Amino acid sequence: MARAIATLPGDGIGPEITAAARELLAAVGDFQLEEHLVGGASIDAHGTALTDEVLEACRNADAVLLAAVGGPKWDTTDPSAPRPEQGLLGLRKGLGLFANLRPVRPSAALLDASPLKRDRIEGTDLLVVRELTGGIYFGDSGRDGDRAHDDCAYTVAEVERIARVAFGSARRRVTSVDKANVMETSRLWRETVTRLHDEEFPDVPLNHLLVDNAAMQLVAAPADFDVIVTENLFGDILSDEAAMLTGSLGMLPSASLGDGGPGLFEPVHGSAPDIAGTGTANPLAMFGSVALMLRHGLAMESEAAGIESAIDRALEQGIRTPDLGGASTTEDVTRAVLASL
Ligand code: IPM
Ligand code: MG
Repeated sequence: MARAIATLPGDGIGPEITAAARELLAAVGDFQLEEHLVGGASIDAHGTALTDEVLEACRNADAVLLAAVGGPKWDTTDPSAPRPEQGLLGLRKGLGLFANLRPVRPSAALLDASPLKRDRIEGTDLLVVRELTGGIYFGDSGRDGDRAHDDCAYTVAEVERIARVAFGSARRRVTSVDKANVMETSRLWRETVTRLHDEEFPDVPLNHLLVDNAAMQLVAAPADFDVIVTENLFGDILSDEAAMLTGSLGMLPSASLGDGGPGLFEPVHGSAPDIAGTGTANPLAMFGSVALMLRHGLAMESEAAGIESAIDRALEQGIRTPDLGGASTTEDVTRAVLASL
């Protein structure tokens, strides 16, 4: 039976890159695609960024492919107004997707497209393992007169399960990133990661970095990293930084996984409202996310690897959207990748 994929185009360039992903999927297999509203598009239609029906449809799918949410139309600082991002956060929480994998491997053809020098980024092949359903993103928050607060909390069990994913993904080393010199949650994090390491993964080399130092090392010596495991907010920030090693935020895919149940696969970049509708969005992070979906969500490793090499080949042929300094269109890139499959 054809595998069911819930596609969530969302906002901005989302629908354009989803259309490209549909073409790619049609070329690699037989899938049953359904499409649902999320983010600003859902706010406009239903007044909320994620309806119960859409969450339920995602639960019942074999995998969820999301493009991007948000845009100036829904930007507000009013705490009671719905925000597009709530759609994404609701999906992560609602599907129990605590592990976010963001692989960063600059394509050989793009080694000169990064703002960093080639000799700095050559050999970079790292994985950010970001905790995705805890911390400050999901703590109590609110306003009281002229005061606002966002609580950050972690339990031992939450740290253990993400640390297991990190150690299980390591090839050379795990670097755990925290702010243990200041934050209590970080001290719990460091203590738990260390204990779990000693009990279950004593053979995997482990080191700890403070997040400010990690941000510096990531541009100073990115090739030294293998797996970086960190809490929700630090992972959000460090993964955007790491994306620039690949030349553009338009290149970075991600997989969000839970315990069984469908995973959610999405590019790390946002909805890029400034270029929406121009046909120049880079679909490669979306294609990379399709590859991760086939690998981690649908057990189709050879098709996943096939897409990744087709992306590399298209880049070798010189195909570049404007974010990579070229003039190729979304359509040009899609054609080039399909032809290289
Ligand atoms: C990401 C995004 C989201 C996040 C936003 C859109 C809520 O930046 O997936 O990295 O902060 O997690
Ligand atoms: Mg982010």
